[in-house]
This record gives sequence, C-alpha cells and structure tokens, in this order.
Amino acid sequence: MSPARRIRRGEGQLFRRMRLAALRDSPSAFGTTFESALSRTPESWSEQADGTSQGSDRATFIAFSDEFPVGIASLYRQEATDVGELLHVWVSPEWRGRGVAADLVETLLGWAGENGFTTVVAVVAKGNARALRFYRRVGFEPVEGGAPGGPDDPVVLTIRNVAR
Ligand SMILES: CC(C)(COP(=O)(O)OP(=O)(O)OC[C@H]1O[C@@H](n2cnc3c(N)ncnc32)[C@H](O)[C@@H]1OP(=O)(O)O)[C@@H](O)C(=O)NCCC(=O)NCCS
Repeated sequence: MSPARRIRRGEGQLFRRMRLAALRDSPSAFGTTFESALSRTPESWSEQADGTSQGSDRATFIAFSDEFPVGIASLYRQEATDVGELLHVWVSPEWRGRGVAADLVETLLGWAGENGFTTVVAVVAKGNARALRFYRRVGFEPVEGGAPGGPDDPVVLTIRNVAR
C-alpha cells in the first residue's frame, strides 16, 4: 500500500471512477444514486475533483495499492465554520478489513487538523453496521441524544474532535 494522497488537479476521471464504483457497490450507503452519478458530464466531475484538490475548505484523498486506486474519502467544510463533514468514504470490498480505511480517514483527519477544522462529523445510515463500527474504532462517537432528526431518522451523526 502507498500512503493515501490528496487528489490532484486534472484527476476528474479518477474521482468519477471511484465514485461510480462506490455507488455501484454500496448504493444504500450514500445520498446519491449510481444512475444520477452516471448522468453527470465529464466537466462536472472535473470541477468537483479540482475543487477538492486545493485550498483548505474541501479535500478528497485516494488510497492506492501500487498504482491501483482502492479507496476514497472526502471532507467538506460546513460553510464558514470549523466543522467538516466526511463524505464519499469507501474502500473496495477486497481491501476491507486490512487497515486501508483507517489509514485513509486518519490521513484526511490529519489534513483537517492542519487546516483549521476542530470537529469532523460523519452521517451514517442506521443499518450500516460495518461503517458505524469502523467510525467508532477510529474515534468517532454517536451524538448525544441519538440521530439528528429524532428516533426514526434513518441516520446517525458521529463526531470526532480534530483540533490541533
Ligand atoms: C465503511 C468502510 C470504509 C470501512 O472500511 P473497512 O475496511 O470495512 O473497515 P474495518 O474492517 O477496518 O472496520 C469495520 C469494523 O466492522 C466490523 N464488521 C465487519 N462486518 C460487519 C458487519 N456486517 N456488521 C457489523 N460490523 C462488521 C469489523 O469487524 C470491524 O470492526 P472491528 O475493527 O471492531 O473488528 C468500508 O466497509 C466500506 O467501504 N463500506 C461501504 C461504503 C460505506 O458504507 N461507506 C460509509 C458511508 S457513511
């Protein structure tokens, strides 16, 4: 495994490939559908990828095995705050349970701490037991009082402090 690295300007195709793989593999884990992602233009992928390749408000990191991309995670700042939301977190099935996800998320959280974030939140579908367990293991805690929209809300908000 090589260390996870931030996506680079001009890597819109890589971003698209990883997002489509994630949405195809884990349709219930994300707020977007594979079909809607498939209908996006190359320009829209490029713009999004370029936007996360620089600056301190959003970042996408990719994990590689040799040259082969095997995982993705992004962090987006909640506007004008020091809170970031983890998005796009996905590791290809054959690389799960091998520490790739933890490396990826820790690298991204390290970046967050260096870029003025104090808190990172992850919104997880309630039935996604594996992701919830993973987030707990890397230091996230479910928010006091349960899910944000009440007991029937289908998501759980987890929080980790990353302040430096
Ligand atoms: C979420 C994800 C990135 C975590 O990566 P991972 O490599 O699977 O994570 P790990 O194996 O290190 O940790 C998962 C934990 O869940 C446990 N687990 C495995 N299968 C499980 C299951 N079906 N139910 C509950 N827990 C499970 C593992 O034993 C491990 O816990 P442990 O470390 O206490 O033993 C990866 O599973 C993934 O890409 N899932 C699909 C996309 C997704 O759900 N993304 C998150 C969106 S919020």
